[in-house]
Amino acid sequence: MQTDTRRALITGITGQDGSYLTEWLLGRGYEVHGMVRRSSSPCLGRLAHLTPESLGVGGRVTLHAGDMGDAGGLARLVQEVAPHEVYNLAAQSHVGVSFDQPTYTADVNAVGALRLIEAIRGGQDAIGRQIRFYQASSSELFGRVSESPQTESTPFHPRSPYGVAKLYAHWITVNSRESGWLHGSCGILFNHESPRRGEAFVTRKITRAVARISLGLQKKLSLGNLDALRDWGYAPDYVEAMWLMLQQDDPDDYVIATGETRSVREFCEKAFGRLGLDYREFIECDPRLFRPAEVDLLCGSPTKARERLGWKPRMTFDGLVATMVDADLELARRESDCGGVFSDGT
Ligand code: NAP
Ligand code: GDD
Repeated sequence: MQTDTRRALITGITGQDGSYLTEWLLGRGYEVHGMVRRSSSPCLGRLAHLTPESLGVGGRVTLHAGDMGDAGGLARLVQEVAPHEVYNLAAQSHVGVSFDQPTYTADVNAVGALRLIEAIRGGQDAIGRQIRFYQASSSELFGRVSESPQTESTPFHPRSPYGVAKLYAHWITVNSRESGWLHGSCGILFNHESPRRGEAFVTRKITRAVARISLGLQKKLSLGNLDALRDWGYAPDYVEAMWLMLQQDDPDDYVIATGETRSVREFCEKAFGRLGLDYREFIECDPRLFRPAEVDLLCGSPTKARERLGWKPRMTFDGLVATMVDADLELARRESDCGGVFSDGT
């Protein structure tokens, strides 16, 4: 494949971040290739507006079958696409689920990243040039935080099998970089949300419930720990930071965050308030939704990203909540009109 167009390969393209990153890269003239895992019913809802069918013949998104568990397939994919940039967004990304599926989570999130890095190593030799690599690290690495706000030099203390697996992926990226053969950067991203957020994550679970309750489609919302504090940003702002990291001549690691922290309770208050509801009337506490080990507080400092990448978040917390509630209200109205339960496929 020989063109001057820059090519990006995204694992996890069907996810929240994968879909926004695809839009961002298309807007910059990239040819985008995405890896999609096999499923009995493919989950392409977030990409429906980006496929060759919707973009026409000039569409620049190509989907390839593959899985983070399959080393040979990853190696073949990297050589076939010959990308300039690889973004590793694929993961079992639910922290709560990782306590029930720790081995699977480690295989996909930790060893999967290693498989991909090894595929890039072989790919670089075959293609004869460097491939830039982005690893989706996480504020979950900080876990039981020893200082606040958290920066690139804050010690890691993960509190879940998800966090431990992501720690391996982070360090194997750093190690490959320090070994001199990988242009690898890790984005230590704090929580980021959007109307495309998966429905099992707390923000989306709340905004979806608020919208449905307001239309009489649902009565109550069951939640776990309302006191956890998170630094919530907006996913479209955050994918821009991923791209900026790979445009630097020197690879490095960056905290991407807003610098503000709010509790789950505060998110509920704002989200229900948006539709004139009092959250206290609708929330039920379900002990099964508490985690065996919790991350109590996350608050990141984006200072390095601002100074070196020129990146800063644009969306406010209030704007984020309003955007998500309004989008879910629209979805719930369609649900109400059709008399059935809708899911947007997230
Ligand atoms: P997401 O919506 O859950 O998307 C995860 C993606 O990974 C999906 O495309 C999923 O495919 C894919 N995937 C899962 N297992 C796979 C496997 N075995 N092989 C190939 N693909 C697989 O996650 P996100 O919110 O976009 O997050 C993107 C990345 O950033 C993840 O690595 C996450 O851990 C990390 N991260 C997220 C946040 C955040 O707040 N969103 C913060 C820090 C780090 P299916 O569609 O088939 O399930
Ligand atoms: N999911 C969920 N569901 N979380 C709940 C619930 C509930 O019913 N009730 C309370 N919570 C609390 C969790 O205990 C946690 O403290 C907080 O809400 C946020 O949970 P999630 O939205 O599931 O996100 P997360 O912070 O655990 O993980 C997300 O952010 C990480 C970055 O810090 C995920 O996107 C990870 O992939 C990402 O790395």
